[in-house]
Amino acid sequence: MIYSKLCGTGSYLPEKVLTNHELATMVDTNHEWIMSRTGISERHIAANDEYTCDLAEKAARIALDAAGVNANEIDLVIVATTTADQVFPSTACLLQERLGISGPPAFDVQAVCAGFMFALDVADKFIRTGSAKCALVVGAETFSRIIDWTDRRTCILFGDGGGAVVLKADNEPGVYSTHLHSDGRHKDLLCVPSGVSRNYQSVLDGNAFTTMEGGEVFKWAVKGMADLVEETLEANQMTKDDLDWLIPHQANVRIINAVGKRAGVDPDKVITTVGHHGNTSAASVPLALDESIRNGKIKTGQLVLMEGFGGGFTWGSALLRV
Ligand code: ACO
Repeated sequence: MIYSKLCGTGSYLPEKVLTNHELATMVDTNHEWIMSRTGISERHIAANDEYTCDLAEKAARIALDAAGVNANEIDLVIVATTTADQVFPSTACLLQERLGISGPPAFDVQAVCAGFMFALDVADKFIRTGSAKCALVVGAETFSRIIDWTDRRTCILFGDGGGAVVLKADNEPGVYSTHLHSDGRHKDLLCVPSGVSRNYQSVLDGNAFTTMEGGEVFKWAVKGMADLVEETLEANQMTKDDLDWLIPHQANVRIINAVGKRAGVDPDKVITTVGHHGNTSAASVPLALDESIRNGKIKTGQLVLMEGFGGGFTWGSALLRV
C-alpha cells in the first residue's frame, strides 16, 4: 500500500502588518469589537507589487528546504488559490517555472478557504495511485485584493499569506484519509459576484469584492467542520482521544472554538493562529500547520486532523500522522 507522507512545511506572511487600531482609522470599528467578535488582532497585507505567486514561492522554498528535497525531485505541483496572479497560466505553472521544475503537471485548485484541503486530497490520490512520488502542495492568497476596505463587515476578517507542504510516497501513513464536500446551493452567502465571464465591468472598475452573510456563514462553517471531525475519525475507526491536534480553518476564533466544542475535542488540542494573520483563505491551514510544527507544538509521529471551509460552500478534511 502506498501512502503520502508529510516531509516538509513552509509558510510566508507579507511584511506589512495591518493592526485593528489602523483599521479603526479606515472604517467605523475598534480593536475591542474586532477582538470580541473574531479574536483577530492583526493581518498581513501584500505590497502593491507582491502577488500570490510571490507568497507561494517563498512558502514553497521553505517547505522544500525543510523536506530536504530538490525542486527537480518534485513531480506534481498544485496551488490552491482564489486570487491567481493571472487568468492564465495557472499560478502553479508560474510557480513551477520559478522553481525550475519543468515537465510534471502543475495546476491550480479553486475551493476558496477549503482550497488547500481539496489540493491535498488530489495530491494524495496522485501519490496513492503511483502517478506521483513527490508533490508540492501550496495554499496562497492575496485576498486583500478582493476585499472592500470600506466595508467593516468583511475587511476586519481577511489577510494575505502562503503555506506549503511537500508530500512523498511512503509505505506507512502519512495521510490516512481525506474527505471533501461542496454544496452550491449556498453560493450567494459568501462570494465575489463577478469575474471574467460575468459582471466583468466591476472587475475593470476595481469593484470585484467579497460579500458575505456573516451570521449564516458562521453557522454553516461550525456545522460543516464539526461534522467533518466525526466523519473523518469514523472512517478510520478512531476517536477524539486518538487525536493529538485539530487544525480547523483559521477563519475566526469564535468559529474555531465552536467547532472544537461541538465536535467534543479538548480545547487544548485545537490549534489557533488566526489572531495574528486573519483569515488567509487557502493559506490558512498550511500556515497554521507550519507555525505549529516550527514552534514545537506539533511533533513528529502525532495525529493531526486538518479541515477547511469556504465559499461555495466547500469543505474538507485530512487526517494524517506527521
Ligand atoms: N465594527 C463594529 N461594529 C460592527 C462591525 C465592525 N467591524 N461589523 C459589524 N458591526 C455591527 C453591525 O453593523 C451590527 O450593528 P447593528 O446591530 O447596529 O446593526 C452589529 O455590529 C452586530 O453585527 P453582526 O453581524 O450581528 O455581528 P456578529 O456578532 O454576527 O459578528 C461577524 C459579525 C464577525 C462577521 C460574524 O458573523 C462572523 O464571524 N461570521 C463568520 C464570517 C467568517 O468568518 N467569514 C470568513 C469567510 S468564511 C470562512 O472562512 C469560514
